[in-house]
Amino acid sequence: MSRELKALSMAAPGHALRHFWALEPSMHFLNHGSYGATPRHVLAAQHQWRERLERQPVRFMSDELPAALCSARARLAAFLSTQPERLGMVENATAGVNAVLRSIAWRAGDELVLADHAYLAVRHTVQHLAECHGLVVRRVQLEFPLSGQEAILEAYWSAITPRTRLVIVDHIFSTLAVQAPVAEIVAVCQPLGVRVLVDGAHAPGLLPLALDELGADWYVGNCHKWLLAPKGCAFLYASGAAAQDLHPAVISNFHDRGFPLEFDWQGTRDYSAWLAVTAALDFVEAFGAARYRQVLREQAAAAAALLCRHWAVELPAPPGMFSAMVTLPLPGDEAPTEENATRWHDKLWTQHRIEVPVLAFNQRLWVRISAQIYNELSDYEALARAVSASRSMQGT
Ligand SMILES: Cc1ncc(COP(=O)(O)O)c(C=O)c1O
Repeated sequence: MSRELKALSMAAPGHALRHFWALEPSMHFLNHGSYGATPRHVLAAQHQWRERLERQPVRFMSDELPAALCSARARLAAFLSTQPERLGMVENATAGVNAVLRSIAWRAGDELVLADHAYLAVRHTVQHLAECHGLVVRRVQLEFPLSGQEAILEAYWSAITPRTRLVIVDHIFSTLAVQAPVAEIVAVCQPLGVRVLVDGAHAPGLLPLALDELGADWYVGNCHKWLLAPKGCAFLYASGAAAQDLHPAVISNFHDRGFPLEFDWQGTRDYSAWLAVTAALDFVEAFGAARYRQVLREQAAAAAALLCRHWAVELPAPPGMFSAMVTLPLPGDEAPTEENATRWHDKLWTQHRIEVPVLAFNQRLWVRISAQIYNELSDYEALARAVSASRSMQGT
């Protein structure tokens, strides 16, 4: 382990760790959730892979790449408690979801269940396929505030019918920031012969994953969010039977050579993000993977408590449902329009150098905070003060 990573293993979270990232020092970056932020150490590893390729591109692609991919895949598989042959390489969660949805031999009238809070790209893909194949989409409507995970389970349960072929469930909902009871949903679906695709875009690094044990048919995860890999590093897990007839959305040279090999070649592309996943794992493991999860969870909980106190608002779900992100009501009663959400977001950034998403849904405006080891409570205090000051200037 390098001296730099050794130092990380003993370091306390906070602004002192910001030099590990290239993030602008003067801002309060409270949105790790949207695109992640990759440490310099991992970017350097990615750069080295690119240089290695460019020294002799033909030899790299034919001789070095297969073995390098194999070892990156094996390392990631061990981290996710699965086997390498169950992990297909994709560039992002959207590509993984598209691969699954476009590989299923749909019949007109088949039903597909997904939440109204599923990620926009997933909803669009589902809608597109529903129009192409005559599918019925059953929307799971989730209340927010939420009483607990049982409410999510019940909402899914009541959307399943004898015609359901697939259930899509988010492991962590992007808007709500809460964790869904995916193991329980899989357990309900399996005896009915209903297949389950888990959209775990936010889960790798944040939740302790044991993919084989979970038993979902397919699981899509981003490594470029909480696992700190470079952008363009994601995986599609397929259980044994679910790997049959599974093709990437881009059909290419390895077509019909089986999963996951077929995913390894989707036309010439940049493999450096995927190959640098080992450097990202080194980084997280140097900090301590379990410690990392715990620190983020505790920091997010402390930040949420601070904001709730300051704004006199309530946490919209039991604390245990959140991990490193928490969605909180923005104080006040402004109309929940996209324009108001954008105005708040832009004001926080331009006037206060705070990057945080403001969302409009379920009849109000919300703020979704993220916690990362480069944050400290003063970042959230800045947000608390900025919102209160803006509101008192508006006279609300
Ligand atoms: C739940 C969920 N699914 C899918 C995605 C899409 O991820 P990507 O843009 O990496 O494909 C996101 C992105 O934030 C997400 O939150």
